Order: sequence, then structure tokens, then C-alpha cells
Amino acid sequence: MVQITEREQHVTLHRSASEDVALTGTIQIPGDKSISHRALMLGAIATGETTIRGLLLGEDPRSTAACFQACGANISPLNEDQVRIQGMGTGQLTEPEHVLNAGNSGTTMRLMLGILASQPEKFFTVTGDRSLRARPMDRVIKPLQSMGAQIWGRQGDRLAPLAIRGKRLQPIQYHSPVASAQVKSCILLAGLTAEGKTTVIEPAISRDHSERMLQAFGASLEVDPQQRSVTVTGPADLQGQTVVVPGDISSAAFWLIAGAIVPNSELVVKNVGVNPTRTGILDALQQMEADMQLENQRTVAGEPVADIRIRASQLQATQIAGDIVPRAIDEIPILAVAAVFAKGTTIIRDAAELRVKESDRLTAMAQQLNRMGAQVTELPDGLEITGGTPLQGTQLESYDDHRVAMSLAIAALNAAGTTTIGGARAASISYPHFLQTLQTIVAGGNSQS
Ligand code: S3P
Repeated sequence: MVQITEREQHVTLHRSASEDVALTGTIQIPGDKSISHRALMLGAIATGETTIRGLLLGEDPRSTAACFQACGANISPLNEDQVRIQGMGTGQLTEPEHVLNAGNSGTTMRLMLGILASQPEKFFTVTGDRSLRARPMDRVIKPLQSMGAQIWGRQGDRLAPLAIRGKRLQPIQYHSPVASAQVKSCILLAGLTAEGKTTVIEPAISRDHSERMLQAFGASLEVDPQQRSVTVTGPADLQGQTVVVPGDISSAAFWLIAGAIVPNSELVVKNVGVNPTRTGILDALQQMEADMQLENQRTVAGEPVADIRIRASQLQATQIAGDIVPRAIDEIPILAVAAVFAKGTTIIRDAAELRVKESDRLTAMAQQLNRMGAQVTELPDGLEITGGTPLQGTQLESYDDHRVAMSLAIAALNAAGTTTIGGARAASISYPHFLQTLQTIVAGGNSQS
């Protein structure tokens, strides 16, 4: 048995050495965070009504909803069944009376900046929590400024709080130095009101939910996967739509690794979005020889979906680098946990972007896993992990980073004794019922999202 207790900001997992801990059951995961943000934003700037089913009720999408409500969009109370939005039309947001607060959410702040900068004559101020105020915003501010945007911020317009004076922008062709869906989406959203063609070219393909959803809402888009370029032609009017949000593969990832590493486990994770720009985690698990099958593959509202069955097996070490990294960018922390239980040495490279996420995830995972007795070496742009040393429960810190907190909780399932994780409440950023689901599957039951 594993006993799980939650007290204030901490969660404690206690595993008694003598007992077996097989995980079994069926898991419903919450809605995709990236798609939830985009559905709220496009609904807010479209004409007419948008209906969202399966919205993620995590803190990040709640921040997006609150920001756009403050700019005039009429959004019904948030629930998983149905959210209705009466949109304002592109370029038609109203000036909010207060500072917009993106909370912990990089996606809210970066995508929203593209929309706000292109609202003629309107003035906005934007801030976020301590983590977000330390994250680089110049990666979107610089290209927006070259479209003519007026944005000011701390440290030479690099950090929030930010002030924005909206205006009619000029189209650009932008070669992004980073493979970032947030940068790409921000520029495309700004391009909606610019007269002419706005193009973003990426060094590697990042998630394409914005492209899919913009097309569904009626924008004119040209996508060239060979050139890794996307072009939007403005000015474009969006029409409200019905969006069905699939389960988040980034949330499914915790259960896929848990099922793979905890002996004798078998889990089925239902309704997982398997958009190919997000499935780096599945490729990595296949490379590691995981016993995993995709079942019931289907398309729901323009996004591919499957149920995923995983059984425990001996994982093998692997190499994770290059184009797979943007396709698994949020799953590197939990892949590091998988590597701790794999045979051999796993090398993760080309992942320096993890240093500017909600925390420095390379340092966080290396330090915390090593505290448990793992063999992890930090590289400038990755991790080197030698698997096979048994883990011992101890006091850990999540740095208030949701993905670090959940990754450490999965590692603790296979650690002897008691593990305490500080700041574990952060899980509610992307996965409000994570701990309840963990309790349920440890007890062999089936869980709701
Ligand atoms: C996201 C893009 C990624 C990802 C983040 C969500 C998005 O960030 O890490 O959790 O919804 O566009 P980057 O664009 O910074 O890689």
C-alpha cells in the first residue's frame, strides 16, 4: 500500500517496504490545457457564440477566462460539461479597468499579448505571479514590436508587469529562434488584424493547436510542414464554433510512466489527445520498450484521440534530442523519472528551454531525484540519468511547479519509506484532481477526471 496525505502545501506518500503496490484501473484525464486556452481566447475574439465541452478547469485556463472577461467577453461559469462565450469580434475588445493577471500561465500571457497589442487605441496592463514575472516575454515582445506594437516592461521590455498601447499592426515574416508554440501563436493572433500575410517560420515543429483551431474558426491559413512555416492572411473575422477538448496527453504522461515503472501495474488512460505534434512522449516510451498500446483511435472535433493501455515492464535507457524535444517539451520531467527506472544511461539534450518554464526544470528534477538516491547529472541543455539505483523516500521540493510536483509524486510510488513534497498544491495549475486520481488507482479503482 501507499498512503497519501495532503496537508496545507505538502503531500506525503508513505510506502511500506514489505507490501506490493500494483496500480490498476481506468483513468479519465482532464481536458488539454493548450486547447482550453485557445478555445477561450478564440471564443472571446470571434463573432457570435462559442461552446466549449471538456474545458480544463485548472488554474491556468481560469486565468485566461478572467483576463478576457475583463476585456468584455461574456463567458458563462466554467464547467466541464459546457462553457458558452459571446465573442467581441477581432480588434473589438474593451479596455479593462484593472491590471490583467495571467497568474502562473505563460500561455495566457504570451498568446494574449498578440491579441492585446492589436486592439487599436486600447490600453492594457498585464502581470503574473512571481514565476511568470521572471519568465522571458521578449521572445514575443520583439517580433510584436517589429509589427509596430507598443509594449513596455521591466528590464528593457523583457519582463512583466507589462503595459500595452494597442494599435493596427503591420504583417511580418518572422524566423523564430525557438521552437515555441506560444511564440508562433502570439504572432499569428496579432496577424489576424494586420493587413496582408503574416508568416512564422520555426526551427522545429511545435504543437499546432492554434493552426487547427484558427482554421476551424474560419481564418485563412497556409501551413507548409516542409518549410515549418504558417501564414495567416489578415484582416480575418473569426466565427464562433463548438470546441470539444480532448484529454491532455501531458496529464496522461504521469499515468503512463506510473503504469510502466510500478511492478505488476496495468492502466488504461481514456480519451488522450494524440496530435502528432504532442506525441514525443509516446515515441520516447516506445524507444524505451514500454509495453504500451493505443486503442480505439478516432478523431474528435479535428484532433486525433485514443485510449492508451500501459503495463509495467523493464524500461531501457534511451536518447532524447532534436525534433522530439518540442514534441515532448512538458513531459521531460516525467521522462526523467522513467529514466531513473530504466536499464542503462539515458541522455536528454537540446532541452535548454526547460530552464525558462514555471521553474528551471532541469535543475529541479536533477536535484530532487538525486536527493532520493538517483544518479542524475545536469547538462547545460539536458540531463544524463543512469537508471537502476533504488529510490529512498525523503523531503522534496517542487518549487511550486505543477509538473515537477506530479513527477516527484510518481517517483515516490517506487521509493521506500516516506516522501514529502513541498508545494504539491501546484498540481491544480494543470490537473486539479491529480491526488484524488492517484489515491484511486493506488487502491485499484477507476477514476474520473
Ligand atoms: C504551450 C507551449 C509550450 C508548452 C506550454 C504550453 C502552448 O511552451 O511548454 O506548456 O500551449 O502553446 P513553449 O511555447 O514556450 O515551448
